[in-house]
Amino acid sequence: MAKTATKAQKNSDVETAKTKGISPFNGSKVWMDGKFVDYSDANISVNSHSLHYGLGAFEGIRCYETSHGGSAVFRLKEHIDRLFNSSHILQITVPFSKEEIFNAVVELVKVNKFKECYIRPIVYIGDGGGLGIFIKEYDVKVSISAWVWGAYLGEEALKGGIRAKVSSYARFHVNTFMGMSKSTGQYINSILAKKEVVAAGYDEAIMLDTSGFVCEASGENIFIYSGGYIKTPPLSSVLPGITRDGVIEVIQNEMKIPVKEERITRDELYIADEVFLTGTAAEITPVREIDDRKIGKGKAGNVALELQDMFFKIVKGENKKYSKWLTKV
Ligand SMILES: Cc1ncc(COP(=O)(O)O)c(C=O)c1O
Repeated sequence: MAKTATKAQKNSDVETAKTKGISPFNGSKVWMDGKFVDYSDANISVNSHSLHYGLGAFEGIRCYETSHGGSAVFRLKEHIDRLFNSSHILQITVPFSKEEIFNAVVELVKVNKFKECYIRPIVYIGDGGGLGIFIKEYDVKVSISAWVWGAYLGEEALKGGIRAKVSSYARFHVNTFMGMSKSTGQYINSILAKKEVVAAGYDEAIMLDTSGFVCEASGENIFIYSGGYIKTPPLSSVLPGITRDGVIEVIQNEMKIPVKEERITRDELYIADEVFLTGTAAEITPVREIDDRKIGKGKAGNVALELQDMFFKIVKGENKKYSKWLTKV
C-alpha cells in the first residue's frame, strides 16, 4: 500500500496553483449579496454564525465550453432548486428569488470571462443575530464565487480509474443530518473520511451508512455495474446528486441496461464488474480498485467510459436531445 498521495490528488488545478503560491481565486469577481466585488474585497465577519456552527447551504456547479463556441452552465435550474431545498430544510430563508440567483450565476461567468469554470453559491448566516446557538433571526447572506477547476480527481482518474477505500467513518444517520440538504457543516464527515483514505494512499473514500450499506463517496454518488444491471443506492443519507439523476436518465434513454436504485453491500462492490462515481466536480470517474481488491479487470470499465463519453458530449452541447440541461452564457 502506497503511503503517499497518488498523482490523482495532486493533479487538480487548485493544487497546482497553490504549489506555485497563487490563489486560484485571485483577480476574480464575486457576487456578494447582490453586487459584484473583487475577490480581495469579498470578506465576511469573523463572527459569522455559519463559520462557528456550520449552518449554511451551498452548491457546486460547472460551466463548460461548448463545441459551437460559447459556454453553457450545466443543469443550472436543478442546482438552484437544490440550493433552495437545502436552505428550506435548514429553515433558512434565502433573501433572493431563484431567478435572481440564476441570473447572478450567468452574469458572474460573463463578468469573469470564464470559458469553463466551477461555480460555488453559498447561503450562510452573518453576525447580525449574535453568536448563540439559538438565534431568533438569521442574518442571511448569499455569495457566489467561480474559478477554473479542472478534473477534481485528475485527468488520469477520468481515463484510468481511481483506487478507493471504504472509510472507517460512517455516513450520518438520516436523523443526525439530513442527506437531501447540501449543508456546509455536514461536510466535516466527508473531510475526515477523505483525509483518512488519502493518508493511507488511496484517491477517494467510500462511505457506508450506519447500518453498513454503501452510501456514496466523500463528494460523489456511487454506481455499480453487475450481473447486467446498473445499481445505485437509494436516496437516504445520500445527496440527491444532479449528475446521478442525469446519469440515470441517460442510462434509461441510451443504454440497454436496466438501472435500479437499491441498497448495495460492501462485498457487492468488490465483485462488481464495474464501479464508478458521479458528481459535478468528479464528473464520471471509474473506480479500478477498492480496499486492495481489483474491480472487474482492475481498470476503467467500458460502461463507465461509455457513459463518460456521452456525458462530455452532452455538457459540450454535442447532443441536442439534452440541450434542455444547458444554460448558455
Ligand atoms: C456528498 C456528495 N455526494 C454526491 C455529490 C454529487 O452531486 P452532484 O452530482 O449534484 O454534484 C456531491 C457533490 O455535490 C457530494 O458532495
